[in-house]
Amino acid sequence: MPIYLDHGATTPTRPEVIALITEVMQSQWGNPSSLHTWGERAAMSIERARLQVADLLNADATNVIFTSGGTESDNLAIFGIARRYRVPQHMITSAVEHSAIEQSVKLLEQAGWQITRLPVNQQGSIEPADLVKALQPNTVLVSIIYGQNEVGTLQPIEKLGKICREAGVWFHTDAVQTVGRLPLDLQKLPVDLLSISSHKLYGPQGVGALFVRPEVELVPLLMGGGQENGMRSGTQPVASIAGFGLAAQLADRELETEFRRLSRLRDRLFTKLADIPDLLPIGASGAQRLPHHASFCYSHLNGRQIVRAMNQAGIAISAGSACSSGAILPSPVLLAMGFTESQALGAIRITLGKATTDRDIEFTAETLKQILKPKI
Ligand SMILES: Cc1ncc(COP(=O)(O)O)c(C=O)c1O
Repeated sequence: MPIYLDHGATTPTRPEVIALITEVMQSQWGNPSSLHTWGERAAMSIERARLQVADLLNADATNVIFTSGGTESDNLAIFGIARRYRVPQHMITSAVEHSAIEQSVKLLEQAGWQITRLPVNQQGSIEPADLVKALQPNTVLVSIIYGQNEVGTLQPIEKLGKICREAGVWFHTDAVQTVGRLPLDLQKLPVDLLSISSHKLYGPQGVGALFVRPEVELVPLLMGGGQENGMRSGTQPVASIAGFGLAAQLADRELETEFRRLSRLRDRLFTKLADIPDLLPIGASGAQRLPHHASFCYSHLNGRQIVRAMNQAGIAISAGSACSSGAILPSPVLLAMGFTESQALGAIRITLGKATTDRDIEFTAETLKQILKPKI
């Protein structure tokens, strides 16, 4: 049986979600903005999903904007704030952001904005004191990734958010890898904007959400019919949004048991691989790490070669970030963490999921040992 261990790239859509999507496409296919019964039914599906996504975050449903996914949510957070200003200001982010944030702030930088990228240590963690030092009178947004997609490190979001709140600066977090894997409580967490993606939590691809507190004034990126309270024009993909909602509700129910189960399997994988010479675990460990995420550097083989060999053995893993696959450059995230170029080129990521068993971990560890065995 093939083993899929690339849940950081995407997750299989749950059968219950596929069933709901099919049903919605068959019976609630109206335009949710239409005033007739077809439209009302579609609008009700969307509002149900909004409540389900909000419940997963313990947030108010009116603060959830549906988007086309994590990338759009990240773009909306960055440019939605930036476009409020006629003259360039200052933003703070980190050296380990997903490209959806990094590319957005790079564009602002080219337009004259001042961007501070907070450094990280060897585990990929940000020091909250560095954020305090970086704040300026013209800082308008701080955006820090919650669970890092390549190395699995969780940032001290509560502390960072508190610092921003005390300074009166909006705080965004890209929680695409985190939502559905860690319990989040936005009634308590000092976060003003938060990005989510459906396909990382067993929902369909091409749909996501941005949580935005009502005090934050965003300028929309898409102009048109004024859907999503004017924040994201365009007819909503009703079936995908309904599927996302159900996936969020089911993730919420399983959150605690899956968190414990995946953390145990992940730690088992780290233990099993600990004796492979020159295979270095990367990122933080234990509670500072995403529960489903294990990543390593290996200096003697390119990560892509390892991925191909594992694939031949029927196991799907990834080399660095799946979103940037195609490029054989070392990952900027690993370089920022202090790894050498050759170590970074040998990076692999193994991300577990709902179907992962102890036997899968056993087989994966044995297969990887064989592949990395020195050839005489
Ligand atoms: C941390 C992070 N942010 C954003 C994204 C982009 O999300 P989407 O694929 O929904 O556009 C990803 C996808 O891998 C991610 O891991």
